[in-house]
Amino acid sequence: MKHFLKETDFKPSELGGVFALAREFKAKRGHPDSRALAGQTWALIFSKTSTRTRVSFEVGIHELGGNPLFLNKNDIQLGRGESVEDTAQVLSRFVHGLIVRTYDHTEVERLAARATVPVINALTDFLHPCQIYTDAFTMIERWAENEDLVGSLRGRKIAFLGDTACNMANSWILGANLFGMKIALSGPAEFAPGAEIKAQLEREGFPADSYQFTTDPYEAVKDADVVYTDVWVSMGKEDEKAVRIRQMSPYAVTAKLFAAAKRDALFMHCLPAHAGEEVEQAVLDNPRSIIFDQAENRLHAQKAIMAVLAQSARK
Ligand code: CP
Ligand code: NVA
Repeated sequence: MKHFLKETDFKPSELGGVFALAREFKAKRGHPDSRALAGQTWALIFSKTSTRTRVSFEVGIHELGGNPLFLNKNDIQLGRGESVEDTAQVLSRFVHGLIVRTYDHTEVERLAARATVPVINALTDFLHPCQIYTDAFTMIERWAENEDLVGSLRGRKIAFLGDTACNMANSWILGANLFGMKIALSGPAEFAPGAEIKAQLEREGFPADSYQFTTDPYEAVKDADVVYTDVWVSMGKEDEKAVRIRQMSPYAVTAKLFAAAKRDALFMHCLPAHAGEEVEQAVLDNPRSIIFDQAENRLHAQKAIMAVLAQSARK
């Protein structure tokens, strides 16, 4: 049985199948044949707020014939100190999958270690793999010219600006290595990629320096196919808001910075965006901004991930 806690939980040989299934689900939305979760209940355990992740999972489970069960952490005993391990074992007796959004990444690992149903990481402080698979699928939609979907990513360059130590930056470092892309990150030196992601790269067999970090945003976006940014104040970092905004402001994606990437570069953002902070409104509105395709594709990509995990759980 499979879990999806980090990008590399699917082997390179499995990626094409996941993206092809996402494409099929998108093309055939609502088609009655797509009932991969028929009769199942999948629980969402969320310790943080969410618009896209919650709605796309709830709608996706419903569209696959299943029943979504949303559990705010504080509405269940987990919020009052019941252990992660007991929660995993109890919920596994009731439901067919667990989708978890929390702070500490080890919490999803501990849940997965005890759960007897698939566990999906719906964002931790460390990683946001559902977003990265969605983003890759959104790039594939633009770039794939044949059935080698993953091949259309290979050799492409993504530039990630701003908070380069956040979950999205970590996940894109891992994702770029998995998909054979190049990644350059640019932000204040204080927010450079940290020891945790370097250790993860080594554990996965990728070289620890398999990304470029520079404090010069123009160097990072040079020759980039995608310019990507995320909020400067991630959930849980609100106390650092003033210092983050001050230090990260040179890394805002302005129209001028975006113009320094490739002529046909795409702008991407996982959303929610704070226009006027990490990105100018003009860039969000640029015809090469594909932020709402990204948001929509959460639904299709996550349906594919759930369908594959549900299949693995049957074996
Ligand atoms: N991109 C993303 O995960 O958005 P939400 O926080 O709204 O789920
Ligand atoms: N880095 C952001 C991503 C939100 C989808 C956060 O963790 O708040």
